[in-house]
This record gives sequence, C-alpha cells and structure tokens, in this order.
Amino acid sequence: MSESISITDNRTGESIEIPIHRNGVDSAEWSKLLPGIWFDDASFGNTSGAHSAVTELDGSAGFLRYRGYPIEQLGKECSFLEVAYLLLNGELPTREQLASWEDEIREESTIHENFHKRILEGFRDDAHAMGVLVSTVAALSTFFPESKDVEDPSVRRKQIVRLIAKMPTLAASAYRRSVGTPYVLPDPDLDYTDNFLSMMFRPGDSEYEVDPVLRRALDLLFVLHADHSQNCSTTAGRVVGSSLADPYLTVSAACSALSGPLHGGANESVIRMLEEIGSYDQIDSFINAVKAGERRLMGFGHRVYKNYDPRARIVKDTAHEVFDVVGKNPLLDMALKLEEVALADDYFVSRKLYPNVDFYSGLTYQAMGFPVEMFTVLFAIGRTPGWLAHWDEMLSQDSRIARPRQIYIGSPERDVQPIDKR
Ligand code: CMC
Repeated sequence: MSESISITDNRTGESIEIPIHRNGVDSAEWSKLLPGIWFDDASFGNTSGAHSAVTELDGSAGFLRYRGYPIEQLGKECSFLEVAYLLLNGELPTREQLASWEDEIREESTIHENFHKRILEGFRDDAHAMGVLVSTVAALSTFFPESKDVEDPSVRRKQIVRLIAKMPTLAASAYRRSVGTPYVLPDPDLDYTDNFLSMMFRPGDSEYEVDPVLRRALDLLFVLHADHSQNCSTTAGRVVGSSLADPYLTVSAACSALSGPLHGGANESVIRMLEEIGSYDQIDSFINAVKAGERRLMGFGHRVYKNYDPRARIVKDTAHEVFDVVGKNPLLDMALKLEEVALADDYFVSRKLYPNVDFYSGLTYQAMGFPVEMFTVLFAIGRTPGWLAHWDEMLSQDSRIARPRQIYIGSPERDVQPIDKR
C-alpha cells in the first residue's frame, strides 16, 4: 500500500500524489496543484505547525512524554530543573551537569532594582498578577538589548537561563507588591522551588521553613506544566518568535496567551466556578446550564485529550498529599461531586470531556496558600522551559516567519463615497 494521498481537482481533472511522511502531508505540494486554495482551519485543529522533538502526546491513548520519557516517571524521579534541562538539551543531566545548571540559574535569579523601585510600583494596587507578569517579562527586553541577536545560539542560551531564573523572582515580587509586604530577594542557598516559596511567603526577616511535602508538590506541579507541545501559548510564542522578536517579548506573548480562561487561566476559573456553585444542591442546575450551552464546565475538556488527561490524575493524587499537610480545601468535595456527576452524564461522555490539568491544580495551589490570581502565574513559571525549548528548536531549524492565509468573506471592490454621500 502506498504511503501517499492523491488529490484531484475536479475543475480541471488534474491530479497530484503527495507522500505521507511522519503523519504529515506537505502543504507546498498541495499548493502546486491548487494555488490560492487554502486549508480552512482557523484554530489549527488539523494543521501541523512544527517539526518538534520536544514533547509527544497522544490524546486518545492519554499519554504525555517529554523527550520520550513518560510524565509519570519524570514526576516521580526528577526535579523541575532536571526536567527543564531535559526539555532544552534533549537528555537528562548527569549529577555534575545538574549542579552546574542549578548554579547558572541561581546566578541569574536577581532582577534589576528598578523593577522593585519603579516598574512594579507603577501598577494599580488591584492589578491582576498575570497582567503584571506579562508586562514585567516584556520589560526585561529593555534591560538586555543584546538578546535581540536571536540567531546566535549562545545568545539564545544566555536568555533562556535568565528567563527561567527570573520568572519566580518577578512572580513573587508581583505578589508581594499586591499585598503590600516588603520584597524578599532570591536566597542563593536555596534551590529553585524553595527559593520561590521563600520569596513568596517569608515573613520579613524572620526564618521561613518550607514544608517538604508542599515544596515537592509545587515542584511536581511545575514538572507537569513544563511543556505540552503546540498548545495555544507555545504557538503564540512561536508566531512572535518567528519574526525574530527577542525572547522576552516572545515569552511575554506566550504568557498573554496563557492568561485566557480557555488555556492557563482555567485554573483560576475553576475556583471561581466552584465558589459560584456554592453548594451540592446547585450542582444539577449548573450542569444543566452547561448542557444548555449557557456555561462551560471549567477544568474539563481538551483539544487533544479525548481521555483522562494524564496530568490531571497526578495532580489529583498530589492534591490529597497537600491536603494531608494543610487540611482539606473546602471546595474539594464540590469538585469531586461535580466530576462524578459529569462523568456519568451522556453530554460529557459522548463528547469525551474529562477533567484536565486545571481541574485540581487550583484547589492544590489554594490549599498551599497561593491567592487565586497567582494560579496562572504558577503555570507560567512551569511552562517557561517548554516555551523556550520550542523557541530555540524553531530558530535552530530552517524556520520562516509565521504568516497564515485567510478565506476572505468581505465586500468585493467598491468605490469610496465622499463623506456627505455615505
Ligand atoms: N464544558 C462544556 N462543554 C464543553 C467543554 C466544557 N468545558 N469543552 C468542550 N465542550 C463541548 C463543546 O461545546 C462542543 O460541544 P458541541 O459539539 O455540542 O458543539 C464539544 O464539547 C467539543 O468542544 P470544542 O469546543 O470543539 O473543544 P475545543 O477543542 O475547541 O476546546 C477547550 C478545548 C479546552 C478550550 C474546551 O474544552 C474548554 O473550553 N474547556 C474549559 C476550559 C479549560 O478547562 N481549559 C484548560 C485546558 S487544559 C490546560 C491547558 O493546557 O490550557
């Protein structure tokens, strides 16, 4: 059997055979036969935009692998920085490589004092943490003008380290400013996740002991969020990066895409939804509103997974470990009941709608003491190595500027009328 497709243009009778290569067909071949006829695929649901060796996921089988390693094994065996190294370099680090990678990150974790004295102070007191993060990541571009030489791999590598290192510092500073407590600077004696927790929660100059279970849970959540192939924010970053914009502006664009409630913002929306439902006896009417198309069940459904999201399973178990330490999130029972009702209902079953990573992550973050507005920021810290791995991979390939076509649905040519005659 030939590994190819044949397409016939019935207007002319001309045919073309296009090889199927790695589950793809080359659109350049298609355009030889059909110039000016475009694939109509506005949400890229059936379009491959990349040749990538970073992450493989299969939505029907329900697996997720970074560089070939199953997410379950990485979650059990590896720290977030090991996984970041893997995503960026293709291999897990040796002990020596990990130590020097951690040192590199540690050395770049500070931010210029203008962030604390001027930039962060410029926001409204009630500024949402994601808006602050998007803006401060973009502001890094103005501190590192040399980052614009994105075609030099060594320049790219330097900015990758800076971005992974500075994200927690920017995030914790945004939180501190919003609650009006003094900024806590990075502590070189702490590892990545301890340091972030310390910058978030250390009360002034007093000692702050991080609970090892909470620290491990947050590190694991970062691992689970570290990459997810060509998702909306990675694609946004790739589109911006394809114009050779610098990595700070590129990652800021990715953060912007992540902020939406259909993507990373869903973890915040799940909590707001559970609070709004309020009590068990409201669950049925909420589900009916979802089925009538009036609401969305946040934290459910996925473009690619048509099975239980493998990350959601791990998050659910992690949530219970966290609750054992800090006490159960009062919204947990509501979430469990909602899941039970949805998974027994034909609306959700027939559409293959299962809990995704965001359904239980917010409950876990909340129990750990993070305010709801920080949830998507936590997602962004975790996803940064993934965004950068895809950006670096794209620029090391023979990439072109992203520039889709459109199906024009507007008016044909017409004449401009003088203003008094319109
Ligand atoms: N609640 C109710 N109905 C839904 C939901 C939902 N959460 N998700 C999908 N559907 C329905 C949808 O209305 C459609 O029904 P019909 O065929 O009758 O028109 C059907 O299921 C297929 O959905 P779709 O709109 O084609 O799905 P999509 O691939 O375009 O959207 C999604 C994927 C994640 C945006 C969507 O499932 C959703 O809005 N979920 C809630 C938001 C959410 O939890 N997002 C986090 C995603 S995971 C973390 C991440 O990586 O971002």
